[in-house]
Amino acid sequence: MRRIIVIANRLPVALKDDQWVTSPGGLVRALEPVLQRVNGSWVGWSGDTDMELEPFEHDGIEQVPVPLSSAELDGFYYGFCNSSLWPLYHDAIVAPEFHRHQWHPYVRVNRRYAEYAAEVLHGDDVAWVQDYQLQLVPSMLRELRPDATIGFYLHIPFPPIELFARLPWRRQIIEGLLGADVLAFQTRASVRNFAQAARKYGRAEPQARSQLAWQGRTITLQRAPIAIDTAHFETLAQSHSVRTRAAELRHEMGDAKRIILGVDRLDYTKGIDLRLKAFAGLLERAQEPREYAFVQVAVPSREDVPAYQDLRAEIEQLVGRINGDHGEPGWSPVSYLYRSLDLEELIAYYVAADVMLVTPLRDGMNLVAKEYVATRVKDPGVLILSEFAGAAEQLRSALVVNPHDVDEVTATIYRAAVMERREARVRMQRLRRTVRKEDVFEWARICLAMLDAV
Ligand code: F6P
Repeated sequence: MRRIIVIANRLPVALKDDQWVTSPGGLVRALEPVLQRVNGSWVGWSGDTDMELEPFEHDGIEQVPVPLSSAELDGFYYGFCNSSLWPLYHDAIVAPEFHRHQWHPYVRVNRRYAEYAAEVLHGDDVAWVQDYQLQLVPSMLRELRPDATIGFYLHIPFPPIELFARLPWRRQIIEGLLGADVLAFQTRASVRNFAQAARKYGRAEPQARSQLAWQGRTITLQRAPIAIDTAHFETLAQSHSVRTRAAELRHEMGDAKRIILGVDRLDYTKGIDLRLKAFAGLLERAQEPREYAFVQVAVPSREDVPAYQDLRAEIEQLVGRINGDHGEPGWSPVSYLYRSLDLEELIAYYVAADVMLVTPLRDGMNLVAKEYVATRVKDPGVLILSEFAGAAEQLRSALVVNPHDVDEVTATIYRAAVMERREARVRMQRLRRTVRKEDVFEWARICLAMLDAV
């Protein structure tokens, strides 16, 4: 197998008390064994600013840190990545901002990633660029290494052309991406959207199915939905410590008859506010409101972006209002945790939950939905899933909802809460078959086979 160089915004390791530790997360878990086998490298930012670090090895993978200054972090990461591209690519749920003083650092930082990657890319190595932060890297790297095999994977949705058209630098982004040999996306819709934008703003010519011709090269478009290490989640879900903790959690939640769970990064794309309103609707209609407990885990994220600060305030106010309206001394219907949980604790929450609410307004994939399914080894549990999550293309036996329709979500939570065990079991078995078959190792295999064939 050829050597693989992953180029991603962040390295798969971070400094903790002066030690490099592997960051949790699906991409890292999937790619680590592959990179170890092929003696691969990972080019990315260490997470600290104003720090020049030499390449080093960690767990058999060469780590190539790309330095970022704090001014670049503001312009590139908080600015263009997370105040322009992120909202634009997620249906403009909040208004994207476009500033030239943020675009320029995006170009500069992308060029730096390409230069660092070019240094470690030799012979027939494969370069595999990840995500929206680095959309100019494929073409910049191609300039430096014209014969390289370059792949790109977009983890978030590629927006419909009507939205993408707003971007003042739409041509540059399309031309940046077209430097790749293979461009892979989470869903069919994203592949379609990109093909349309590439024709319009890059003058790429459609070829045979899923191929574009551009500047004398052929570019393959691919749908490859990202996934999880299903077996690992299954194993942990069956461990004695996780099951004991899950039982404890149920008890701590007043032994409610139905525990409903939401787990998200605190992000406006996740629809946490509407979900809380839907749960409030259930409490209003329920004969015995105390039969229900809702736990929302909100993982802190991008706390320096104003839209995230506003969202946090809004959600916390809403939680307070629902508990104020419906709670009683010693009982609050909503438990709200603003923190990240370690993996075993998270899985204990999944195991404890009867109903999982995954209702983003737009999401590239949503791995929480897949994680919940993977952990339902003993009791079925019901997954309620937004039709706007990429995962809805695969997890068809979930209860699929329009997250904007608060009454529909309320009715669906009720339907899930009273669902007969037999129906829940059949649905969950189908979902489990999908997440077992289409796990993250299969995802990596499919993506890399396409690149290996270039
Ligand atoms: O889904 C896109 C993504 O960049 C993931 O890769 C990442 O886990 C998440 O968003 C949060 O990203 P960050 O904290 O690096 O902005």
